[in-house]
Amino acid sequence: MSIKNDLVRLGKKEKFPLHMPGHKGLRLKTDTTELSMTDNILNPKAGILELEKAIANIYGVKNAYLGTNGSTGLLMSSLLYVGKGKKIVLPRGSHQSIYKGLIDNGQEPVYLKNKIDMLGIARPIKAAKYLPFMGLVDAAIFTNPTYEGYMEDYSLLKPFLKDKISILDGAHGSHLYYISKLINNWMSLQVHSFHKTLGAMNQGAVILSNTETDFREFANFYQTSSPSFPIMLSIEDSIREMMKMKIENRLKEIEWLKKEINNIKGFKVIDNDDPLKLLITIDKNIKVKDMVNWLEEKKGIFFELATDKYMLGLLSFYDSKGSYDWLLKSLKSARKHFKLSDEDNTESLVESDCYIPEMKILPGEAFFSGKKEVDIKDSKGLVSGVLYSPYPPGSPLIVPGEIIDEYVIDRILSYRGDYTGCSGINNNRIFVIK
Ligand SMILES: Cc1ncc(COP(=O)(O)O)c(C=O)c1O
Repeated sequence: MSIKNDLVRLGKKEKFPLHMPGHKGLRLKTDTTELSMTDNILNPKAGILELEKAIANIYGVKNAYLGTNGSTGLLMSSLLYVGKGKKIVLPRGSHQSIYKGLIDNGQEPVYLKNKIDMLGIARPIKAAKYLPFMGLVDAAIFTNPTYEGYMEDYSLLKPFLKDKISILDGAHGSHLYYISKLINNWMSLQVHSFHKTLGAMNQGAVILSNTETDFREFANFYQTSSPSFPIMLSIEDSIREMMKMKIENRLKEIEWLKKEINNIKGFKVIDNDDPLKLLITIDKNIKVKDMVNWLEEKKGIFFELATDKYMLGLLSFYDSKGSYDWLLKSLKSARKHFKLSDEDNTESLVESDCYIPEMKILPGEAFFSGKKEVDIKDSKGLVSGVLYSPYPPGSPLIVPGEIIDEYVIDRILSYRGDYTGCSGINNNRIFVIK
């Protein structure tokens, strides 16, 4: 039994789809719905259940549940599972989906400050930082690896988390199991975006669970009632492909690529813990964004992210050696074009704590309070009614219930009106609590 077999059998049998979706197979043949020959993600009994069991087995947990709303939907399910009004310790640099869960469930956050390094990258919270809060909270949330590929080993906290809910935001870590890096399968819940670092299509995600009771009800809560079969099939395919892949060879190629980039003067690969995350700084006299724009326009190379200090590329087990050669050739051309100097860039050193505005009321309480709109310039001292998370990576600058101060105003205005991921800021106006 497999999702693929179900879809192949259906494809051979079906003459007239008298069901949704309305494109009737025109867009994509596998984009079908729950029928007698296919399974149902909300109550799986056939191919989907088989896949979930196989994933649980590979990742060494009790149960696995597929999701087609990305890690976002499944992280929100995890917070629902923690329960209304509970107290949760979490990194301030957590993804916005976690804040949406906090709001939905009226939970009380206890924030841990991420260290921000010289490149402006939020580093993972050290395990010891959680320790003082273990007696005070109902649940703890961890992010591993971070968006930029940094990791922390939280296993020393295992004994302290026995009677608590531990949740891993492993959105960027679905591949770690295949390269034997920091396996967190002891946590209560782990959420992985199979579309980020494995071969699934966008939105394909999985939650791994060690909870005593069945997590299905929670996994289903934010699940669309029209789940995508192509996405589920791509999760299944990605697992099959990982089983066949010669990962060692792929890792050697990645190592080789990073070494070769370092050999091009003017470029420097920054050390991190995740081989798939390619962090590059360049000659300080050249703007990173100019370099990235040139690589896009002239060479067709598109990076995941560019800040004024570094560029971040996502490597994958699906990359070809030809693409790596093209990248190296293009960087060499860029070196000539921009006349990069031979000077080395400084190492990334840990610099400061991330900034957290003062919390006046709980995020959930603020979100549902009466609001009014004011000019951002006049909002100093007022209580935010919005969640503002510059993207990527989508961790918030301000959370509903926090006091807007000068730092926040400066940062919001410096985004030049691009309030991506925030519905409460428009035309330099922000919603605040009345
Ligand atoms: C750390 C982290 N968690 C969760 C998510 C949400 O993942 P998804 O895009 O699969 O919903 C992201 C997305 O960028 C992320 O960076």
